[in-house]
Amino acid sequence: MSKNKFYCTTPIYYVNAAPHLGTLYTTVIADVATRWNALRGKEVFFLTGTDEHGQKIAEKAAQLGQKPRDFVDSMIPPFKKAWEIYGIEYSKFIRTTDVDHEQAVVSLIEKLIASDDVYKSSYQGFYCVPDETFVVGDVDAVKDGQMPLCPSCQRPVQIVQEENYFFRLSAYADKLLEFYAAHPNFIQPKEKFNEVIEFVKGGLKDLSISRKTVSWGIPFPGDPSHTVYVWGDALTNYISAVGYGSDSPSGAESFEKWWPADLHIMGKDIARFHGVYWPAFLMAAGLPLPKKLLVHSYILVNDVKMSKSLGNVLDPVVLAETYGVESVRYFLMRYTSFAQDASVSLEQMTTVINADLSNSFGNLVNRVLVLALSNGLEVVPPMEALEEDGVVLRERAHECVMTVCDEMGHYNYHLALGAVWKFINELNAYLHVQQPWKVVKQDKARFAAIISMVCHGIKVAATLLWPVMPSKMQLIADALGSHITCEVGKDLTESLRRMAWNKTFTLQQLAAPLFPRLENPVPQPVEEKSMKTTEAPVVEQSPAEQVVVKAPEITIDEFAKVEMLVGTILEAAPLAGSDKLLKFKVDFGPHGVRQILSGIAQLIDYRTLVTVQAVFVCNLAERKMRGEISQGMLVGVDNGTAFSPLILTQDMPNGARIR
Ligand code: MSP
Repeated sequence: MSKNKFYCTTPIYYVNAAPHLGTLYTTVIADVATRWNALRGKEVFFLTGTDEHGQKIAEKAAQLGQKPRDFVDSMIPPFKKAWEIYGIEYSKFIRTTDVDHEQAVVSLIEKLIASDDVYKSSYQGFYCVPDETFVVGDVDAVKDGQMPLCPSCQRPVQIVQEENYFFRLSAYADKLLEFYAAHPNFIQPKEKFNEVIEFVKGGLKDLSISRKTVSWGIPFPGDPSHTVYVWGDALTNYISAVGYGSDSPSGAESFEKWWPADLHIMGKDIARFHGVYWPAFLMAAGLPLPKKLLVHSYILVNDVKMSKSLGNVLDPVVLAETYGVESVRYFLMRYTSFAQDASVSLEQMTTVINADLSNSFGNLVNRVLVLALSNGLEVVPPMEALEEDGVVLRERAHECVMTVCDEMGHYNYHLALGAVWKFINELNAYLHVQQPWKVVKQDKARFAAIISMVCHGIKVAATLLWPVMPSKMQLIADALGSHITCEVGKDLTESLRRMAWNKTFTLQQLAAPLFPRLENPVPQPVEEKSMKTTEAPVVEQSPAEQVVVKAPEITIDEFAKVEMLVGTILEAAPLAGSDKLLKFKVDFGPHGVRQILSGIAQLIDYRTLVTVQAVFVCNLAERKMRGEISQGMLVGVDNGTAFSPLILTQDMPNGARIR
């Protein structure tokens, strides 16, 4: 088994629902993990697919008047389409209805039977008669005949008995605990591992692994009146996909090469199946156990769990159209942590995309390219020697690479991305201090050296961000003439660390803005009623009969979403054809020069504003007025006859943020 390989899996998804933000989340985490390992020079295998057997799926097909097979077939294109849109580069898409998977399930169960881990007995469980399905729950906990309700139809369940095949799970409790003790990082995060350990310590009951009442499944080996219970069927996908149970030599070779998996990724709801049942099956079959399970928490929408009845289920395809595929990937990886449930909102997504992607990074890349190319610098030569601040910048880049490797290695994606943004801010600050737009007029060689420094820095950031935003980062790399190519055996992070910052860059203009600014708030892609968070202002009468509009209370986090920056007004003039609008050119330092329109022409003499440093809101959606774009808003007070802008009384750096 080669150390230089990485085999990563997602859960296989039930096909009774189309992909949604939750399933997209799991899949993007896995895609990023796989790409990160490819970037580090590993040979990768990435498995995803669909879980297609069982009662629920058969019922759904029946509701639609379809045969189960036709129904499951019809659900594959939506999954494949969503993953294609999101750049999910899987190596194999497995379906539990694939013939070789079915054969592998039979082989595994036969192995368990041969090792005397399977016996037939009577199964007692809760059964919902109208739904014709077993319901999870502890029969021994029923008091005074008080039956629990079926979670799906809310009617009382019954206790029924059925002949089932059982797996001797109870015999594996000690072995599992020994394994956990010997592999203290088997499940991440720690809290989820502890939950699994506590569950096993609480005592394991034998597990029913067949159903007599469910016909849509794989026939149980030796007894076709039963089908294999869905979880026994589903978990086996991780080995069947890489050749387990295959008669061919290539199947056996592939299994030898890829198994055990390096990483199984899943949501917290199914950690127990992967952390207890799956290892026990593998132990019984004499197979090696997966190396690690990464368990992530839930995505909530505006603090509420996504559900069809609330109408707040976010469709990944619609999200991609509205926000951009890689912006959504970035947002999910940067603003959630796997250990805690994360509440997301579309407003937050808009703000983040504009601030991090359009302003900080997109603008930086664009400014450097425009600056260099408009000054005839197409081929940026290697620098002869680094000046002191160049040395500091290079050190920061090396620190960034190390931090990112460390955090990615611990699956702290949000912290890794935070480290890249810290470095991007340092690049912006470097550009601001060096002022290449002034230097170019006096010293072309120094100008080229500054551009070279920033190109090296952008290359570092783009390479580290490639697993999260592969096509955008490739566009950036190509604009620098420095394509990102993963190669087995070559660790690109190592190359970044060793890079002597003496590369030649051949620059090319970008065909389109990398991350176009989004309107704020972007039209809601799902039902408005459940997503709306903004409340109407409360109007109160004051004792003096004056109408006071009391704004709804906001949190400090909400306030922090408003990006207010210091800018110097370089030019001010009335807008031709309008008697109300003034047009400003404002310098925001590292955030660039913007055009801002303001309807105050009749309230202030525009000539008094030139060279003034004032406060502007900079993350409002761009607006077109009289055919001209406004990229922000001048902040001030209007008493009806005069306008007083908020101006600074002391010189401050342009682009400084108001807090
Ligand atoms: N078919 C089983 C898995 C078998 S794997 C051998 C299954 N399928 S599922 O379609 O219901 O869920 C798949 C994954 O999506 C799970 O990891 C689940 O946690 C995840 N998510 C579903 N909704 C989610 C959120 N709202 N947030 C994050 N992930 C969630 O279970």
